Amino acid sequence: MATANGSAAPSINGKAYPIVDHKYDVVVVGAGGAGLRATLGCAQAGLKTACISKVFPTRSHTVAAQGGVAASLANMGPDTWQWHMFDTVKGSDWLGDQDAIEYLCRNAPEAVYELEHFGGPFSRTEDGRIYQRPFGGMTTEFGEGPPAQRTCAAADRTGHAMLHTLYGQSLRHSAEFFIEYFALDLMMGPDGTCHGVMALNMEDGTIHRFQAKKTVLATGGYGRAYFSCTSAHTCTGDGNAMVLRAGLPLEDMEFVQFHPTGIYGAGVLITEGSRGEGGYLTNSQGERFMERYAPHAKDLASRDVVSRSMTIEIREGRGVGKDKDHIFLHLDHLDPKILAERLPGITESAKIFAGVDLRRQPIPVIPTVHYNMGGIPTNYQGEARLARGGDPNTFVPGLMAIGEAASVSVHGANRLGSNSLIDLVVFGRAAGMRAAETTDKSAALPSLPKDVADLALSRLDRFRHAKGGTPTSALRLKMQRIMQTNCAVFRDGPILKEGVQKIGELWKESEDVRISDRSLIWNSDLIETLEYDNLIGQAAVTVTAAENRQESRGAHAREDFTKRDDQNWMKHTLTWADYATKTVRIEYRPVHTYTMTDEVKYVEPKARSY
Ligand code: SIN
Repeated sequence: MATANGSAAPSINGKAYPIVDHKYDVVVVGAGGAGLRATLGCAQAGLKTACISKVFPTRSHTVAAQGGVAASLANMGPDTWQWHMFDTVKGSDWLGDQDAIEYLCRNAPEAVYELEHFGGPFSRTEDGRIYQRPFGGMTTEFGEGPPAQRTCAAADRTGHAMLHTLYGQSLRHSAEFFIEYFALDLMMGPDGTCHGVMALNMEDGTIHRFQAKKTVLATGGYGRAYFSCTSAHTCTGDGNAMVLRAGLPLEDMEFVQFHPTGIYGAGVLITEGSRGEGGYLTNSQGERFMERYAPHAKDLASRDVVSRSMTIEIREGRGVGKDKDHIFLHLDHLDPKILAERLPGITESAKIFAGVDLRRQPIPVIPTVHYNMGGIPTNYQGEARLARGGDPNTFVPGLMAIGEAASVSVHGANRLGSNSLIDLVVFGRAAGMRAAETTDKSAALPSLPKDVADLALSRLDRFRHAKGGTPTSALRLKMQRIMQTNCAVFRDGPILKEGVQKIGELWKESEDVRISDRSLIWNSDLIETLEYDNLIGQAAVTVTAAENRQESRGAHAREDFTKRDDQNWMKHTLTWADYATKTVRIEYRPVHTYTMTDEVKYVEPKARSY
């Protein structure tokens, strides 16, 4: 059979898979905030750019980011990017790379003004400037002053507003979109160069080979490895898993953020902006317990601190509800006009998912998996680190990563709220600029190495015809429950060891997967199986890295190693997955303990309190 470009269709297990070929300067995988910002930047620079997305761009998970985007605009009071940088380093518990953090915070205001000029519908102050609210861990005077009002908001639908703005701009610059295409695997050459990506068009079952000079992974996090998360069902870390299958490492995967206020039972997010607007947490005694744990910042301490405090309250019997297993978030004292103007989205979510009228009743909440600090190691320009030789200062030719899929690393061991949306646009923009600098538009694409599509096709074929005894949904549920129990807010050696063993066994058991639909058209059974396979590898590296790190830092709270240990553990974890033996290998990368310029001083490590 002939392919669209006339070459023979590869045959896998005796079955021919016709391929549609595409050639681009840049292919971006993922159309969330980072993917769209990079797509826009590449298209603006005149690069022939494609963006592949498994959902319609404006339904990407960025749509669920509510509270806002951090930038020191100083619209509501004094602020500087140096204070933002200090807070981000402290928030990261000194695992963030300070050169990259400097780049993020210094470039944040420009990235936000750019969004405004693209048409982003920000909420406004009386005098027409962008409205900014307080968020956890964001302070003034290098942590000594009052909370900073730094988080720029479009009511509580900031991510939604950003997606619509960036998608419109990308179309305006003639970027091409391949919507409801599921990315299968990277096309890696024998010398370790990335030549693009294979994808399945879910609508008609056709298989596509996207050859590109640069492939940018913007595929988000993998919250769905857990049972309870604020992440959409689509958050399966597909790019991270493609990187693992390509024999490349992921970084700092043990650092999983729990957002303090997921709605109890449903896991749906209630923005930290609710506490920024004056909301507070109480236990069964009606006590505002955050005053004990973080006397200065109280309910606006960083997320890891608030989530741990809530968990301690529940464990010590002061949780609310019949089973004393959650906490109340109060907004009932706030002016209904403020709620209607600034928090309309969560007013609706509280009604739908918790059945409460937040103008009169508290919202039942519980810490819920929200964000992955770890991901594909990159520099601040989005280039993927660690070409096959294993040196962190080598870069994988042709491969870039941005957004939650990447570990730049600016969030280190714990991300501050609203630093995610700014990461998307600052590093999406930086990746676009770097791709423009390093891509020769006039050069012809090289001929593809032989069999470069085989990994993707044989994996697709294997799952499509899987005839084992266990349905994907049963395997997925088992994985989610193990991760929820064995890699939680608090962890210790024995529970993590058990987690490593259980996830390892499950990974092996997954060979027994059964799917019942053999077609390629809208086969959700097949797609969920590919996604599950993506998740289980990430679950394995996450729990193994967590068991390995014998200290407490940021979101990684070990009950058997309660202190941060800078002498032995101020280093990034790198994990490789061996899919044949279902094992994980660990190495390390040094933290960058230097800044990018002399305009700001290195933030010396110290004890972290709020
Ligand atoms: C929130 O609004 O609390 C979520 C946004 C974020 O995670 O930064």
